[in-house]
Formats: sequence, C-alpha cells, structure tokens
Amino acid sequence: VSMLPYNTFGIDVSARFFVEINHLQEYIELVQAGNYGHVKHLFLGGGSNLLLTQDIDALVVKIQMLGIEVLEEDADHIWVKAGAGVVWHDFVCYAVDHQWAGIENMSLIPGTVGAAPMQNIGAYGVEIKDTFDHLDALNLTTMQMERFDAARCAFGYRESYFKHAGKGQYLITAVCFRLNKQVQAQTSYGAIQSVLAEKGILNPGISDVANAVIEIRQSKLPDPKEIGNSGSFFKNPTLPADAAARLIAEYPNIPHYPVEGSTDIKFPAGWLIEQAGWKGYRSGDAGVHAKQALVLVNYGHAKGAEIQTLSEQIKKSILEKFGVVLETEVNIL
Ligand code: EPU
Repeated sequence: VSMLPYNTFGIDVSARFFVEINHLQEYIELVQAGNYGHVKHLFLGGGSNLLLTQDIDALVVKIQMLGIEVLEEDADHIWVKAGAGVVWHDFVCYAVDHQWAGIENMSLIPGTVGAAPMQNIGAYGVEIKDTFDHLDALNLTTMQMERFDAARCAFGYRESYFKHAGKGQYLITAVCFRLNKQVQAQTSYGAIQSVLAEKGILNPGISDVANAVIEIRQSKLPDPKEIGNSGSFFKNPTLPADAAARLIAEYPNIPHYPVEGSTDIKFPAGWLIEQAGWKGYRSGDAGVHAKQALVLVNYGHAKGAEIQTLSEQIKKSILEKFGVVLETEVNIL
C-alpha cells in the first residue's frame, strides 16, 4: 500500500500491510484473530509528524475513531472527550464554535487528537497539557484499557511518557480536555498582539484569537496540501544559563526565552538555521522553507532519505557555527 496519501511530507514509500480502524473493537478482533501477529504494528494518526525514509515492513494501523462528547460541566469548565481519530483542527473549531476556551491558540496544527498528547503539541503560548484532563489508551501487552492523567503522561516541551518509557506500548483511543467557559484570551505572543492591533480588536474573544493564529500560520507555514512538510523539523534547543549567556554575548540579537520552572534558556532553532544561511535552501526537491527556516519541505518527489540528509547537514552546521546541538522533533522511520 502506498503511504503517499498518509503522510504530510508527501513521501512515497509503501507499507507491507495497512488497515483502518473506526472502532477500537475492530483492532482488538484483528489482534485476537492473530493474522498480523508476525509483524510490528505501526499506529498512524494524521501522519503529520513523520518522515518516512524506507518501505515499512509492518502493519500500518490508521486510527479513525471519531466522535466528540461532553462528559461533565460546572459553572466554569466543561470536560470534552474526542476520539483519537478526530482531526485536531476540527476539534479546535468545534470548541471555538461552542465558545469553549483553551485550545484556540493551537488552531491549524496538523494531525489528530490521539497524536496530540504524544508530543504535547503547542503553539503561540499554549500547550495541550494546559487543558488536558485525561486520556484512554489500550495497553498493547495486556490488551486492557488504561486511563492516564496529566501526571502519568509526564508532559514536557514536545515530550511525554509516550515518547519514552511508554513508547510503542499503548494505543491512545480518546482524549478528554477541561475547557473553560470563562473566556480568557491568551495573547502573550507578540505576533497575535500585532494581528489583533491591526484589526483594532481590543477585547478579543476566542474566535478572534483563533483567526489571528490561522492568519499567522498561513503567512509563514507551508500548507502540506501544496508543499510537503511536517511543521517544525527540530525542537527549539535549550541551554544552561552559563552557556546561554556566552551565546547571547556572542550574538546580541539572538531571540531567547526563559524556560518555565528552570534557569535554562530556550533559543529559536529557526533563527540559528536562518543565520547559518539555510533559509530557502534547496537541493533537488528537498529544501528549507523560505519563510520559516525550522520547516523542511518536499517540493515534489524528494526521498525521505534526502530530507534526512539535509537535516543532518543543518545539524552539523549549527553545531559548528553555534556549538548548539539540534534535536529532531519529527519522528524518522
Ligand atoms: N525565526 C527566525 N528565522 C526563521 C524562523 C524563526 O529568525 O526562519 C525567529 C523568529 O523571528 C522568532 C523566533 O525565531 O523570533 C520564533 O519563531 P516562530 O514564532 O515562528 O516560532 P518557532 O519557535 O520557530 C515554535 C513551534 C511551532 C509553533 C510556533 C508558534 C517548536 C519546535 N516549534 O516555532 O510549532 O507553531 O513556535 O508558537 O517549538 C511544530 O511544532 O511543528 C510547530 C510548527
């Protein structure tokens, strides 16, 4: 089966086996039947944080469990659960339409609800850990359902338990968020403030924030339908205070941000990559986006390995120029 329609990087490799799962029961029956017991199972959401570098000798399980339901509400909050296969942006729109606040800054992030907790997706000053209540997951060893609260998910910057000790052990089936009925727009991010000011919006509602985010993203992030990509390819690196001070002394213009609960300083990888001269670079069909250097792109028929090679060249050059190690954010398979 060609994976071309199932990864936003637009890489054309094939999977040995492929199934779509609309209800968890279908997967449980498939496992019980034992037909695919001899191969690895690879769970796939929107395929938007993935770089495929070779054919997949496994069963690809595309997660399609849908549905959004309200579990509970009180005067201030509403607990809303969405199936793992719900498209993340559709869920955001649903919340915005109902005036439930807390995830509107994460408008237009590609991918699905079920994949969101894996890397604690975030944008414009908000992460899913901020409104996350719990998730349900199938333990692939015991085939029993388990519930995870935020502590058990061990969220960090683009990190969770599911990328470390829990890797490959669970199938996330649904995620519940505690959204706010009292709107408090989160507009600390400079670009959001500029868009709102331009429009003369003084007391933004959540749809104003969502629209501002959509406008910002569309202005600098490539639409995967037009140019293949997986969003930020690298994580923004953090340095301990002393190393950070040396870097800032050498590059006084370098943007930097404090890291919550630590003395470390975070630096934008996009700035480092741009300064190293990579922005807009292209080799064959593999390239660095001209408007956001943190995003690697496939202009058409790039092979996953070509994009991986480009990413290695960038890492090497950032290490040589700045002494900073870039960590990959996208999963390379
Ligand atoms: N910058 C440059 N050149 C570039 C890109 C960025 O100098 O080519 C500078 C900007 O001027 C700015 C700073 O870097 O001062 C930050 O840039 P931006 O606001 O575009 O955000 P980012 O740090 O590059 C992160 C997330 C994005 C998220 C945005 C907005 C990571 C790895 N990426 O990018 O998330 O949308 O902030 O909050 O944390 C993703 O994870 O896939 C993703 C797109």
